[in-house]
Amino acid sequence: MTRHPHPSPSQGPVVHDWAVAPLRGTDFDPVPHRLLREEPVARIRLPYGEGHAWLVTRYEDVKQVSADPRFSRALTVGRPITSTTPHTLAPAGGVGRADPPDHTRLRRLIAPTFGRRRITVLRDRTTRRARRLALRTLDAGPPADLAETFVGPLSATVVAELLGVPAADLDRVEEWRAGLLSHDTTAAEGESVKREIAGYFADLARHRAEHPADDLISELAAARAAGGLSTPELVSMAVMLTLNGLDAVRNIVSTMVYVLLTHPEQTAKLRADPALLPRAVDELLRYIPQRNGVGMPRVATEDVEVGGVTIRAGEAVHVFYPAANRDPAVYTDPDGLDLTRAEAPHLAFGHGAHYCAGAQLARMEAEVMLATLLAGFPGLALAVPPDRIAWRTGSVNRGPETLPVTW
Ligand code: HEM
Repeated sequence: MTRHPHPSPSQGPVVHDWAVAPLRGTDFDPVPHRLLREEPVARIRLPYGEGHAWLVTRYEDVKQVSADPRFSRALTVGRPITSTTPHTLAPAGGVGRADPPDHTRLRRLIAPTFGRRRITVLRDRTTRRARRLALRTLDAGPPADLAETFVGPLSATVVAELLGVPAADLDRVEEWRAGLLSHDTTAAEGESVKREIAGYFADLARHRAEHPADDLISELAAARAAGGLSTPELVSMAVMLTLNGLDAVRNIVSTMVYVLLTHPEQTAKLRADPALLPRAVDELLRYIPQRNGVGMPRVATEDVEVGGVTIRAGEAVHVFYPAANRDPAVYTDPDGLDLTRAEAPHLAFGHGAHYCAGAQLARMEAEVMLATLLAGFPGLALAVPPDRIAWRTGSVNRGPETLPVTW
């Protein structure tokens, strides 16, 4: 990072280059870590896009920006704002890039599927599935790649079933996921993958409009027929939900297992008191830096003061939730793991109107998977030294490539 601690006011604020270098394990990116302490509202330039944007890292400031409707997502559409990836991940028309009233309308359409009641019902079925997969892994004997045999397949089937993506198509969707979420995918390749995946979901929705089933794609197809959303909106929603359901949960729960296995003294507390699990999952969500670089920016619709800095109308702003989760003003020993921690709620699922739509689902899946592993594998351990685990690099979400374990 280039850094000039005492810029002269006539030169304007310094712009920090954030290269988003590959990281291993749960290593925290040094750039936002330092900015959080030294310049919590800073100008940054990322590897792609044009110009610079603000980066907001402190807990209170991140909450302020993400809850303030004067920071718009719709205004990011069509602007080459500095970014981590060469292509924009979230399609225009998608829930992530909409403002009210469109955003409110789109979130209402999916709220019942991801709401507390539906997720509670899903928990039992997910638990039975998790036990079956765990038994299969046990039967095959050690060592096993838990990401491949347990976490990946479980998170994929859960989201595929909720949405109504046939299990036979999951391999194809997985290939699109890899292409779309890679930093190495060029803008042209990204567009081509997006076209393919859009065509797939448009066909699936057409099929479900004629043959409705008990799944979200059928509900969205019915809503489209009633004028509740457009075809591009339906496709964006399906893509966003599928990719998050497949990728975010697989990566973060695999990382949770890695963190538990490399912190035996903490895991012993959890084994001794299984009622600690929900709190432990939240602490793991706070502790794990789940992504490389920043996601979607916002654009100020008027001048707004954040942390003593005036962000001008039209300027782009990124928040970095993982930094907010390590804010020393909010958490004691913020870089340490404490599964019994009971401090401020973390921001791993974001905050405000764009708060993660799948948070209840992701939490439930994490709890079920960790409970199943702790109960079914009393001697669970990494099968290789921690520094031999291969980590996904050059992709948006961080996580282990493989998670070899033994028991
Ligand atoms: C542990 C796993 C997950 C984590 C850490 C996570 C985190 C996040 C974060 C940080 C945001 C962005 C907030 C913002 O734009 O400011 C988000 C948005 C979103 N997530 Fe998740 N997510 C996870 C799993 C899921 C799952 C399983 C689904 C659904 C299947 C999902 C669906 C969404 C959707 C639709 C949005 C966009 C919401 C909006 O813009 O209104 N996520 N998530």
